[in-house]
Amino acid sequence: MKILSIATFALYAASSVSAFTPANIKTSTPSTTTQLYKTKAPVFDEVCDTTGVTLKRFMSEVAMLNPEISELTTLFGGIETACKALTNLVKRSQLPSSETLGYQGEVNVQGEDQKKLDVISNDVLKRALRFTGKLGVLASEEEDTPVDIMPENAKKSEIVIDEGERYVAVFDPLDGSSNVDAGIPTGTIIGIYEHDENCVVDENCIGDECTEQEAQCLANTLQPGTNLVAAAYCLYSSSTFLVLTLGSGTYGFTLDENIGEFVLSHPKIQIPETSKIMSFNEANTHLWDAPLQEVVTGWKTGTGKSGETFSSRYIGSMVGDVHRTLLYGGVFGYPADTKNTSGKLRLLYEGAPMSFIMEQAGGLSTTGTARVMEIQPEIVHQRVPIVMGSKNDVQEVIDAYAAV
Ligand code: AHG
Ligand code: MN
Ligand code: MN
Repeated sequence: MKILSIATFALYAASSVSAFTPANIKTSTPSTTTQLYKTKAPVFDEVCDTTGVTLKRFMSEVAMLNPEISELTTLFGGIETACKALTNLVKRSQLPSSETLGYQGEVNVQGEDQKKLDVISNDVLKRALRFTGKLGVLASEEEDTPVDIMPENAKKSEIVIDEGERYVAVFDPLDGSSNVDAGIPTGTIIGIYEHDENCVVDENCIGDECTEQEAQCLANTLQPGTNLVAAAYCLYSSSTFLVLTLGSGTYGFTLDENIGEFVLSHPKIQIPETSKIMSFNEANTHLWDAPLQEVVTGWKTGTGKSGETFSSRYIGSMVGDVHRTLLYGGVFGYPADTKNTSGKLRLLYEGAPMSFIMEQAGGLSTTGTARVMEIQPEIVHQRVPIVMGSKNDVQEVIDAYAAV
């Protein structure tokens, strides 16, 4: 296990990523295709579509049919354990005796107050994934710094690596954590990329002592969503749900606490193509781009493309809002506005993994002018405007932007 200061990381990150961008993928123009991925889609059989099978059985079946991704099984074992541990932490966090209650007294790299739960969740995930022995690089919302970090703060932040392994993980350990005291759903978002196995990082390389090549290896986290090999989220709510994609459909599991196992409850999730639900922070409406304002006004008044009058549902926890959108249909978004010109959500560990899951369920995910999955991240905490959900309704937004 080694640590690289973010200053070194940031220096080389942007220059190293082009090697991971597939030549045939456009990154700047809008695209509605959902089939364009770098990685090969695995094959599944009927076991993988049988409700009631455990996540473990599901993953071992996938590994048997697709030996090239069999190592993902171990990684998902770690994810599963972390989600179970976080279920209990979130559930117990409101007890007066809980050590996870309240604020940590620190701010994370983005200037947000860190709750004790944020920090503990980050730790739980890091340990669960690190000890699978399959992980090369790991970056998290609570873990490292943006590119323009003041050098004196750089020491505080670090990227944890375990060299020579197959995968790179990015995650938001506890999405919506500010809601947890009010009993509102929270979640964990995870994206898995392939690590460049040719990367060799010296055991003793710490911070700025790392060579340019070593730093470039650590920049493996900065890959576009089209390079994702897997994405998952866990939702801590009425039940704990674990929803995943391995690039061949979106599958939902529910935690059966009696047996301590995730069981397949939602095989091959398909989001309805059209909907009547929208999910935005509508207090920002007047700050949005004009095309989006127009489309949303059409939805409210029933004068949009579908002629339906929409209802509004917004939790303020991305995982909860996206989960409902997947199951009931709808459009979830955190668009750009005049205050937040790149929106609020982070591309690497919120936007890209959730877009992968959404596309694999038959939905779309756009910034308005570009497919979120095709955007090449330049820094770890890069933000991205997002509108995702039911195909026809998101297409209406894409068309409105294109018409301007
Ligand atoms: P996080 O708790 O990881 O910082 O993320 C919170 C995010 C996301 O879950 C949600 O969609 C959005 O913030 C809500 O933002 P607003 O309060 O501005 O609506
Ligand atoms: Mn989040
Ligand atoms: Mn978070």
